[in-house]
Amino acid sequence: MVTVNKNYLKLQGSYLFSTVAKKVAAYQEANPETRIIRLGIGDVTQPLAPAIITSLHNAVDEMAHAETFRGYAPDLGYDFLRNAIAKNDYQDRGCRITADEIFVSDGAKSDSGNIQEIFGLDNKVAVCDPVYPVYVDTNVMAGRTGEYNHTRENFDDVIYMPCTEENGFLPELPEETPDLIYLCFPNNPSGAAITKDRLQEWVDYANKTGAVIIYDAAYEAYIREENVPHSIYECEGATECAIELRSFSKNAGFTGVRLGFTVVPKELERDGVKLHTLWARRHGTKFNGAPYIVQRAGEAVYSPEGKAQLTEQINYYMRNAKVIYEGLKNAGYSVSGGVNAPYIWLKTPDQMTSWEFFDYLLDKAHVVGTPGSGFGAHGEGFFRLTAFGTYENTVEAIERITKM
Ligand code: MLT
Repeated sequence: MVTVNKNYLKLQGSYLFSTVAKKVAAYQEANPETRIIRLGIGDVTQPLAPAIITSLHNAVDEMAHAETFRGYAPDLGYDFLRNAIAKNDYQDRGCRITADEIFVSDGAKSDSGNIQEIFGLDNKVAVCDPVYPVYVDTNVMAGRTGEYNHTRENFDDVIYMPCTEENGFLPELPEETPDLIYLCFPNNPSGAAITKDRLQEWVDYANKTGAVIIYDAAYEAYIREENVPHSIYECEGATECAIELRSFSKNAGFTGVRLGFTVVPKELERDGVKLHTLWARRHGTKFNGAPYIVQRAGEAVYSPEGKAQLTEQINYYMRNAKVIYEGLKNAGYSVSGGVNAPYIWLKTPDQMTSWEFFDYLLDKAHVVGTPGSGFGAHGEGFFRLTAFGTYENTVEAIERITKM
């Protein structure tokens, strides 16, 4: 008889953003005349930059001719893209990362879910609370956690590191030593950023304890402050303890195009094995490479025109972040994030739960956000708004919220 992976049955409800989407669809159906403004999921709204479009067109044309047609991509990524990444994202920032340590993929969501596969099931995982749900759910699916604990509203056998108002939404080193530590900075969902000194403490801790840090830097392009690192490899010793995940979704608007990469340094060894070898093996077996066309689009992100156009695009979203942050603050909300990140994290008013505020906001202002409790127990009483809407919608959403 066929049996199923019972670990899936430990998961609670559906994926957070699917739940939000279902609720919004039901509301829209019941209120067809209402113009809902969506500041929930962190999906971009600006079109692809012209340099990227040109590159896509050229690559499509290449596919039309036998001489330039490409079939399967190299499973770890084309050299033109891996070289551009190594130079621009790492070497120009003083990080000792080479092109052959970069694994191109179809996006950071897949990588952040898949990376756990190269680790034993007996590893203990530490995550921030609140947290991007993919890190936890994929470890649940793999069987690396216990059951869901309804009292604590989280999973047994996972180390949760509370990120609260008191600690500035930055995790503290855990009392119990973990094996795998997921960190995401600038943070999703809280928008908090970590300074280089604070991140260095994590790197030192991992090197001392033998833990591996899985560092999600999907939002690094939004960093504005000088002392905030764009990569964990800016820290001394990080190549011996950290894997870094990167995305083209937020820095270049590729949420629908799909491109990302993971860096696994060759020095990184655990249990007598190079993690680079394991990830290369996994990639080779399970992935046939991101499309040529898309990798050419990714290359354009690093061209002088691409860089200039994307700086403008990010400035556009960060202007939204300012509108949300200042608008809500002036209206008396307690807000954070939004300075080095496209997410604004606010405290729900009048002791409302996160989901109560979600319903209230949808009903009274017709604005969608993401309930903080969907990201973890310590997200209860908080709410996330994204800066990825259009400027006009963002301004209108804040007007509507402040008038409620
Ligand atoms: C979010 O809204 O948290 C992100 O868009 C999710 C993602 O990048 O997968």
